[in-house]
Amino acid sequence: MNTRANQRILITGGAGFIGSHVVRRFVLKYPNYKVYNLDALTYAGNLENLKDIEKEPNYTFIKGDIVDTSFVFEIFEKYQFDSVIHLAAESHVDRSIEDPLAFVKTNVIGTLNLLQAAKKLWGNTVNNRFYHISTDEVYGSLIENKSLFTEETAYDPSSPYAASKASSDHFVRSYGKTYDFPYVITNCSNNYGPNHFPEKLIPLFINNIINKETLPVYGDGNYTRDWLFVEDHAIAIDLVFHKGKNHETYNIGGFNEWKNIDLIKTLCRLMDQKLYREDGESERLITYVKDRPGHDLRYAIDANKINKELGWKPSVTFEEGLSKTVDWYLDNKDWLDNVTSGSYKEYYQKQYL
Ligand code: NAD
Ligand code: DAU
Repeated sequence: MNTRANQRILITGGAGFIGSHVVRRFVLKYPNYKVYNLDALTYAGNLENLKDIEKEPNYTFIKGDIVDTSFVFEIFEKYQFDSVIHLAAESHVDRSIEDPLAFVKTNVIGTLNLLQAAKKLWGNTVNNRFYHISTDEVYGSLIENKSLFTEETAYDPSSPYAASKASSDHFVRSYGKTYDFPYVITNCSNNYGPNHFPEKLIPLFINNIINKETLPVYGDGNYTRDWLFVEDHAIAIDLVFHKGKNHETYNIGGFNEWKNIDLIKTLCRLMDQKLYREDGESERLITYVKDRPGHDLRYAIDANKINKELGWKPSVTFEEGLSKTVDWYLDNKDWLDNVTSGSYKEYYQKQYL
């Protein structure tokens, strides 16, 4: 792993939800690193997420599409990146059900373009690092209350999104085996926190509660997810980037399983308090709607490897994290209004109305 104090790091998808937290952490914590944020600014990318750090001398934004092969090769040649933290992706399961090809393009072909360009630039050196950010969804679904996803769990993706991420993981590992390419992968559970695009459960429901709109619960609401505060994910990424072993995979999770319906009721109660509304007002907005096709019953991560080997564990409790998250959305109404105008309305109409 490159330990040079002045290395050049390419972070892809840095204008998105998790990417913006990772970019901010690296820019502020490592002033000697040069951080390059490559992002196509799709509907999910928003430079407002990085307004506070955009003028830092060690930060450069590059607008571009990882699917564009010659562009990707050109920027590797121009900036001579020492390492890559790859987060750019199409990330929403429901959108992947409507348009799987968009997910193959960005998540599979985009990842291959980055692998090819990095391999060309780096040759056979072990001093570089390609860090691929992946998801627990590649493992498919767990049976209720039984077992956890470990790094050895076989891949069994359910949605086109999960299949595209699984495919990209396979390509990254194949480069390790075939070319001795210096990669590391992490597979993380559901993140939540500030800057989360309001198409995902928690920010969508926060926005709808603010606006007193219905809360569309898929199926019976008895689906389970393992939630992690986004800044704890960024801390884990920092640690794995610097201390993780080449060709290893680390699962990251919150040790924090919630049935959707229980989480939603907790969020409703919290928001009633914060908005000085009558107890039970937000809960009355809950509406059970048609289930997501191929809906995975349960995700739960065994994060013991990263805990034992690298000493990581979540630092924020769910109670604190959810409260901070709700406060952020209430304090950033302009951000919410901006991202929910325009094409968001069309998406919402198609998905829910
Ligand atoms: P996001 O959708 O909020 O952000 C994705 C970013 O990638 C956006 O800024 C977007 O503009 C950019 N992007 C999309 N297509 C691009 C392209 N072709 N070229 C360049 N940039 C492009 O996603 P997120 O939730 O922040 O997820 C980031 C990564 O973490 C993804 O790889 C995702 O699979 C993974 N992940 C997410 C979660 C989660 O709960 N959100 C959990 C585990 C893993
Ligand atoms: O597990 C990691 C994954 O978590 C990431 O890889 C994905 O990028 C991220 O989007 C997330 O996927 P999920 O499908 O789990 O997240 P989502 O927020 O879309 O849904 C969470 C749960 O809530 C899921 O069981 C579906 C349900 N849901 C979701 C929405 C948007 C609803 O009941 N109603 C909704 O309107």
